[in-house]
Amino acid sequence: MAGLFIAFEGADGCGKSTQLRFMAEFLREQGVDVVSTREPGGCPVSERIRDIVLDRDIEDMSAQTEALLYAAARAQHVYEIIKPAVDAGRVVLCDRFMYSSLAYQGYGRQLGVDEVRAINEFAIMGYMPDITVFMNFSPERAFGRMNELKEYDRIEKEDMSFHERVFEGFQKLAKSPDILAIDANGTKFETHEVIKRALMPTFKQAGILD
Ligand code: TYD
Repeated sequence: MAGLFIAFEGADGCGKSTQLRFMAEFLREQGVDVVSTREPGGCPVSERIRDIVLDRDIEDMSAQTEALLYAAARAQHVYEIIKPAVDAGRVVLCDRFMYSSLAYQGYGRQLGVDEVRAINEFAIMGYMPDITVFMNFSPERAFGRMNELKEYDRIEKEDMSFHERVFEGFQKLAKSPDILAIDANGTKFETHEVIKRALMPTFKQAGILD
């Protein structure tokens, strides 16, 4: 049986990592075999690419280089982690995937969605998520929440107009039928319930929960 591949997407600081963790815990309690992973990263080669692409001391990386590095990290991650897990019938929960590249590099860096999609299709070998949860949460709110939390990485420290373009890009992408847009403005517990309800038909259809 083929497994299930679910990605979580949203603006920096929208709480998607917490939601991914909650979902993994919920599924494991139900006895489901879950693999939690993240991008950029998820395996040694891709974590090393992550260190480069998020390094705040690199001041002049071209948008093309950035897009190719994210795609290269993704190629190794699919090859080493996602493909084997999905092929073995496991449920993969991935913090960000290709739609992040379309939103950040396609819209944010203005490289064009079709161009960024093309390099990613080469990278992912047909392994697109069955469904993507998009946490709809404005970048202003997300940044307001993040300020106290951490030092900004190379992408986060871009100006608000970049983050607005990313957010608007996500809104456009969210019209795609494989994206579930979730209102992420409630508490983390409320949002977990919303995501669980929204994903339940997918879990049932895939025979993962009854
Ligand atoms: P992430 O680890 O999700 O950061 P955070 O937990 O702070 O949200 O992602 C790191 C950054 O990389 C984030 O700013 C989004 C960006 N990114 C892209 O620009 N393109 C991509 O393809 C991916 C996967 C991430």
